[in-house]
Amino acid sequence: ALVSMRQLLDEAAKGGYGIGAFNVNNMEQIQSIMEAARETKSPVIVQASRGARAYSQDRFLYHLMLAATEIYPEIPTVLHLDHGNSPATCISAIDMGFTSVMMDGSLMEDGKTPSSFEHNVAVTKEVVEYAHARGVTVEAEIGCLGGIEDGHGSGGSGLDHVTDPAQAEDFVKATGCDALAIAIGTSHGAYKFTRKPDGDVLKMDILIEIHKRLPTTHLVMHGSSSVPKELIDIINQYGGKMKTTFGVPVEEIQLGIKNGVRKVNVDTDNRLAITGAIRKVFVETPEKFDPRDYLKPAREAMKKVVAERMVQFGQAGHA
Ligand code: G3H
Ligand code: 13P
Ligand code: NA
Ligand code: ZN
Repeated sequence: ALVSMRQLLDEAAKGGYGIGAFNVNNMEQIQSIMEAARETKSPVIVQASRGARAYSQDRFLYHLMLAATEIYPEIPTVLHLDHGNSPATCISAIDMGFTSVMMDGSLMEDGKTPSSFEHNVAVTKEVVEYAHARGVTVEAEIGCLGGIEDGHGSGGSGLDHVTDPAQAEDFVKATGCDALAIAIGTSHGAYKFTRKPDGDVLKMDILIEIHKRLPTTHLVMHGSSSVPKELIDIINQYGGKMKTTFGVPVEEIQLGIKNGVRKVNVDTDNRLAITGAIRKVFVETPEKFDPRDYLKPAREAMKKVVAERMVQFGQAGHA
């Protein structure tokens, strides 16, 4: 059965490790994560965005996840809604069987306009009441990540909308959320930094201050793909056209985990791995036309990235 995210993150806090939250849209991505979890004996958070729910017609995705719990009964598995934009979106996910939801009230429903503190508190509180009555975990967000909101690649440490620790404390006290996504210099997507980060990606003093004020709130880092050069190189070697770019170094994520980060969101790295693997098959064996011939290597490539992150974040061995 699917388990609540609170349960997994409480364990992670006790053990001092982090748990990767990987985005899925289809069967192959779910299989990649579950295989990596079995291989590394890891608890897992599988997350679906609103876009993923639309792409998979919701119930396909939900039933694939039920299949995952049948096939991998030994793996504690969370099904989490990533970036819910309204109470209605979160409630529909809870009603379908998600065991955790993110109410991202840091932005208005359009997903672009920054919201007021009061708006964020109101929508988050509404979701917390509904979710907690049903044993479902709630992640909220305070502060705005760079990238999607302010254009790709701020070139430096992207610290325009960093979370204010005092506000974070007020927010958690007012809402009762279980986990809190904070803005400490990361952004979504492949184009996070235009130069190689030099130990200055995460705003560590802010993170430490938030963790001190909210010792039992599980902190969440979005935009945590490392964007490995090797994966970009494979894509470009086989006809892709991606620009030079840098992500969040794994060592910085590990430092975050030492200071209270429990959930680490990764999507882009898996997208890169899948695309590179498929391009390679297309270029090297253009006569092939059976989708399994490229979806299998794609699945394998994503599994490798996920297993690597599970070891790096410390969740390996904790299933
Ligand atoms: O933060 C967003 C995740 O990477 C999911 O992206 O909304 O394109 O599915 P998506
Ligand atoms: P990346 O784009 O860095 O993989 O971040 C994913 C994310 O934060 C999903 O919510
Ligand atoms: Na999320
Ligand atoms: Zn995110």
